[in-house]
Amino acid sequence: MSIRGYICLAVLSSCGRPPVAVALHHGRHLATAANVPADSKAVKTAEDTSTASGAFHTARDLLSPIKHATRLTEGRALRQDVWSVFNAVNLPSDCINLGQGYMNFPPPDWAREGAQEALCSTMGNQYAHPKGIPRLRKAMQNFYGTQFHERELDMETEMMVTNGATEGQYAAFTAFVDPGDEVIIMEPFFDQYLQCVVFNGGVPVFVPLHPNAGDPGKRCKPTWTLDMDTLSRAITPRTKMIVLNTPHNPIGKVFTREELEAIAELADKHNLLVISDEVYEHLVYDREHVRFATLPGMWKRTITVGSAGKLFAATGWRVGWLIGPPALIAPAYAASLRLVYCANTPMQGAVAVGLEQAGERGFFETQTNEYKERKAILTDAFERLCLNYTQPEGAYFITVDVSNLQWPADYPFPQNIRDRRRDFHAAWFMAMEVGVAPLPLTDFYCDAHASINENYIRFSYAKDLNTLRSAAERLQSLKRYLK
Ligand SMILES: Cc1ncc(COP(=O)(O)O)c(C=O)c1O
Repeated sequence: MSIRGYICLAVLSSCGRPPVAVALHHGRHLATAANVPADSKAVKTAEDTSTASGAFHTARDLLSPIKHATRLTEGRALRQDVWSVFNAVNLPSDCINLGQGYMNFPPPDWAREGAQEALCSTMGNQYAHPKGIPRLRKAMQNFYGTQFHERELDMETEMMVTNGATEGQYAAFTAFVDPGDEVIIMEPFFDQYLQCVVFNGGVPVFVPLHPNAGDPGKRCKPTWTLDMDTLSRAITPRTKMIVLNTPHNPIGKVFTREELEAIAELADKHNLLVISDEVYEHLVYDREHVRFATLPGMWKRTITVGSAGKLFAATGWRVGWLIGPPALIAPAYAASLRLVYCANTPMQGAVAVGLEQAGERGFFETQTNEYKERKAILTDAFERLCLNYTQPEGAYFITVDVSNLQWPADYPFPQNIRDRRRDFHAAWFMAMEVGVAPLPLTDFYCDAHASINENYIRFSYAKDLNTLRSAAERLQSLKRYLK
């Protein structure tokens, strides 16, 4: 069997229950098959790209008499993911990467001093308390104050510090998902959720959000909507939890109080656990961020997920947390202890100082205003291009409708792009011809739903103003490819 044949089989064969889908460069010359040099990145094959992108494996590496666990295929973990494809290594060296949501500006100096202080001490280099260093938990207690309930959070039983939100979430799924339990995920979804469910034996049930047609005369569209009937129909006696994400990645939606109350009603009626991913809690533009856990009756059934990476422009610090009632935090803590034991000690020092000083420095207000300025550069670029886009209500993502973007029929997409959906083609074309890389959205859908919104791509504006201004100018050269 050829190497490629082996990979296809590996990806397609799935012994478990299938997931459930509910109802549904600036001034560059156009590259053509004739003028793309044979060694160009644009003609790499899927196998080349997996190595070049920094992915751990090539197809050849997977040829082994020892078969890997089926959860890897069921969880799409061996498939070349969107991050590996739209990775700097695969893009032209001067391409502006607005795909992945990491910042090209530094976290605050005064918070970084917290890590330096820890590194200069002895204990700041040793295992942390697995619940988190006391100073950070105390800082969290003060920072959140009475936002969750009428009294302060208990720093021993109602919070735990994790290795980024990613690990905290994983621990929560490990703690609560039994094999066969169904977990509702709204699409498009932050891709880690899928593995959180599948690796733990759960069955993901997908409920799509819908783009809003808005006013035909306006390029800027209201945020995507959730159809409550579809959500309600997705719930079965096997449903264990709902994953909620507000503000939302990748669409920048902030769920309204009314929407959250409707979800709460279902959670209550069906006795569901809600994982409320609120990592963008401090990036909300002129609207209310409602903490799901604060809705009547929801504290006891909600685990709220936070991330210092998002709060302090420090995605590499890998510090996050879970907040909830003792009965939900204790099992998640038990799982986290066995997964990682504790989070990175010195970086917890940085986060502690960050939370201690953010209020008096007005850090989050300033940061939000800075993000508004960044956002405006891109929205203005899409207005000038006459492309429809969704108004971001929170986080740092804009989704853009590229249904009227048309590239030449013979455009030389590399095999690993050609095999994917239209959004991958559009994003690759932009990266190669305009020098700005967005992110396709179809990887944020289950396979059964991947076609429903394949004309949407995501731009992240977690970049400095000059980078965004350059990107905005480059994007204007797309005009000639718009029908
Ligand atoms: C919605 C959402 N949740 C969780 C995470 C993971 O956060 P962390 O970097 O703290 O693991 C991200 C990161 O992009 C995200 O967008």
